[in-house]
Amino acid sequence: MLEPYDGKLSCTVLRGERGRKTHALPGSIERRTSLNDGYTISTDKERLDVSVIHDFISNRSYWGKGRTAEAVRKTIKNSLCFGVYAKDKSLVGFARVVTDYTIFAHLMDVFVLEEHRNRGLGKRLMEYVTGHPDLQELRFWRLDTNDAHGLYKKYGFREPVFPEKIMERRKEPANQSVHRIADKSGSR
Ligand SMILES: CC(C)(COP(=O)(O)OP(=O)(O)OC[C@H]1O[C@@H](n2cnc3c(N)ncnc32)[C@H](O)[C@@H]1OP(=O)(O)O)[C@@H](O)C(=O)NCCC(=O)NCCS
Repeated sequence: MLEPYDGKLSCTVLRGERGRKTHALPGSIERRTSLNDGYTISTDKERLDVSVIHDFISNRSYWGKGRTAEAVRKTIKNSLCFGVYAKDKSLVGFARVVTDYTIFAHLMDVFVLEEHRNRGLGKRLMEYVTGHPDLQELRFWRLDTNDAHGLYKKYGFREPVFPEKIMERRKEPANQSVHRIADKSGSR
């Protein structure tokens, strides 16, 4: 199913068996938008180039070094994913959202490839992610970042109001020591 995303809230009604009206599951409608310079953002998982996503996360991100291709595939399968594509249709950016579509979402694995940075793609991606029609009911968004607070603040993220109420449970991958947590480059 493919529907252009025009930024407006929408609720698609489908015809189910025996002509009964059924509502599409949240996140199941593929959406896309065209940006300036021929870039496109799409939620179509079929278009994602997993090898590019894996290469960036496992080799060049500060949070996911060593993540396996299988793990990347599993995270994609179980998330609402956003791919950014250049005019030649190659993947140049990515973000994914883990969510119940009602109360909570965690934004993860946001990146734009090095040669496409500083031309507004990160901002357009964030605008598109936070404007996704199926994520408008949410009460909480969370994310972890080392240094991109300024980017996310443009889209409503703030330091937690009650940081003392937030807890986490961590299991570091086998190839990472506790020292990585101490230097703030631990994985997510
Ligand atoms: C962060 C990232 C996605 C930004 O993408 P981009 O396309 O270069 O960003 P844009 O051109 O849209 O501009 C980003 C804006 O956020 C601001 N910003 C704040 N912190 C930033 C940071 N750590 N990195 C990049 N931009 C940052 C920039 O100054 C800019 O604002 P401005 O236009 O008002 O000057 C990209 O630099 C990237 O992939 N970095 C490596 C991976 C990463 O750190 N991801 C975020 C993990 S939380």
